[in-house]
Amino acid sequence: MPDHSSLEGEIAVVTGGARGIGKAVAELFVAEGASVVLCDLHPALGTEVEQQLGNRAKFATADVSVEADVASVVATCVETYGPPSILVSNAGINANFDATTMTTDDWDHFMGVDLKAAWLFAKYVLPHMRDAGRGAIVNVASMHALVTLEGFFPYAAAKSGLIGLTRSLALDYGPHGIRVNAVAPGFIRTRLVQDSINRNPDPAAAERNMVSGIALRRIGEAAEVAAAIRFLASDDASYITGTTLHIDGGVTARRAG
Ligand SMILES: NC(=O)c1ccc[n+]([C@@H]2O[C@H](COP(=O)([O-])OP(=O)(O)OC[C@H]3O[C@@H](n4cnc5c(N)ncnc54)[C@H](O)[C@@H]3O)[C@@H](O)[C@H]2O)c1
Repeated sequence: MPDHSSLEGEIAVVTGGARGIGKAVAELFVAEGASVVLCDLHPALGTEVEQQLGNRAKFATADVSVEADVASVVATCVETYGPPSILVSNAGINANFDATTMTTDDWDHFMGVDLKAAWLFAKYVLPHMRDAGRGAIVNVASMHALVTLEGFFPYAAAKSGLIGLTRSLALDYGPHGIRVNAVAPGFIRTRLVQDSINRNPDPAAAERNMVSGIALRRIGEAAEVAAAIRFLASDDASYITGTTLHIDGGVTARRAG
């Protein structure tokens, strides 16, 4: 049985690390002794996080849906700290398309970020993990993979896809000592959720309405998701693979009506 382990000596790649959940993951991982390469579209925000975290954090500008960028982020990790032992595929965007007006370009761009990127990062980190005979991947899905709302097309499809991808990789790479899990956050106070609250004519009422459906009666914090990701990424979760952990304050425990 493992001791309560820190992340001392681990080398992690965290996508979408410039803000929100990804930033909280990078902060926690560095605090626990890991070295972290974080990537994001936004160099200004990413560089700020790098400076805040010190010499065990390195920022790389990348679009996670572009294979050459993904390869370059993993190469930066290998050059800076060594082969990655942890991958957190967190970068994501929301979508509110209508199925009849969405274009194939919209679809390809959206799926590129919210689904394909997790495969691309796995493609480039898995060979290193296989060589080491160990590794952990955590994919950030969403409660929309399990239950969704009108108007979230095709976010729910992408996030459900991530859970299938998680299961497949867990089966294919379990024999190499690599664990692959997902988290399914509910409402977490990041820019993504704040923007959707602010889009309502009465944001305070929209937030009250959101909170009324949460058993714990509050919106979650990015640090609370990071703590769950840290658990799944660490040896504390040494016998857990192929699973999805709900971090939603009880939203998905509720039956409608
Ligand atoms: N906030 C929530 O309530 C919530 C709930 C469920 C799931 N999630 C998921 O959690 C993850 C993180 O979301 P968040 O709430 O922290 O949002 P956020 O918008 O604060 O952070 C997402 C980060 O990903 C980056 N990103 C987006 N597209 C990218 C691309 N193509 N290449 C590189 N980086 C890119 C953004 O620049 C941003 O820094 C997402 O996958 C999201 O779907 C969030």
